[in-house]
Amino acid sequence: MPDSRVPRPRRFLVCEPRHFAVQYAINPWMNPDTRVDVDLAQEQWRSLISAYRAHGHTVDTVEPVAGLPDMVFAANSAVVVDGRVFGSSFHAPERRPESTAYETWFKSAGFDVYRPESVCEGEGDLVPAGRWILAGTGFRTTREAHHEVQEYFGVPVIGLTLTDPYFYHLDTALFVLDESNIAYYPGAFSPGSREVLARLYPDAVVATREDAMTFGLNSVSDGHHVFIDPGATALAAELTRHGYLPVPVDLSEFRKAGGGIKCCTQEIRS
Ligand code: ARG
Repeated sequence: MPDSRVPRPRRFLVCEPRHFAVQYAINPWMNPDTRVDVDLAQEQWRSLISAYRAHGHTVDTVEPVAGLPDMVFAANSAVVVDGRVFGSSFHAPERRPESTAYETWFKSAGFDVYRPESVCEGEGDLVPAGRWILAGTGFRTTREAHHEVQEYFGVPVIGLTLTDPYFYHLDTALFVLDESNIAYYPGAFSPGSREVLARLYPDAVVATREDAMTFGLNSVSDGHHVFIDPGATALAAELTRHGYLPVPVDLSEFRKAGGGIKCCTQEIRS
């Protein structure tokens, strides 16, 4: 285990939570009767952006669209590998217009955008992890999308089945630490998928249900710093033991919509 992990500068795309709200329920965290404190959400979101910039990362922003309360969850907009953009095709009709809003941004930034035919929600379920893409299914992204993303990038896709509705996207139960390792909560996966993960990642950082329920696995790692929910204390200690440096960022207001740090962050890999 190295004493010091090496951070790699990243380019992120984010969307200000100006129109953030909980107006419909498409996952068990959401209740349309919940009131969202938009000022607090904006403040928390800005602290995430500051933390990224303070650690040397580039942050681009897409203009939020009124009437799209989940657009803040930029990770769902696409998967970007080698500057190629595989867009999204949302499960819920309420979120479908987001695809076009993000596509417009990508095009204006000089990227071509591939529009998938099958249901998939960007990095929520399609997670580039070094030599392959880890792909969740069970609640949102379909098996057909796993096939489609593999054909598009020519990168092997490892399909994983999610079984707990609280962890409806892969990025709520697993995150990539660096090219060769991940952290995850085994209880979110089917028995076979758990075995696959154990085989691929014998040295993974394994998290508890408590860590997962505070969105501790909805973290972003640059290879050294891990931007993580402050409530995931056991996981943070474990990451430290493995040579990573946890950077706590509180996005508790976004949990009302079933989101956290990674959900708010789209990575643009060039
Ligand atoms: N309310 C949003 C939804 O249910 C939250 C999306 C969270 N994003 C994520 N990458 N897990 O679609």
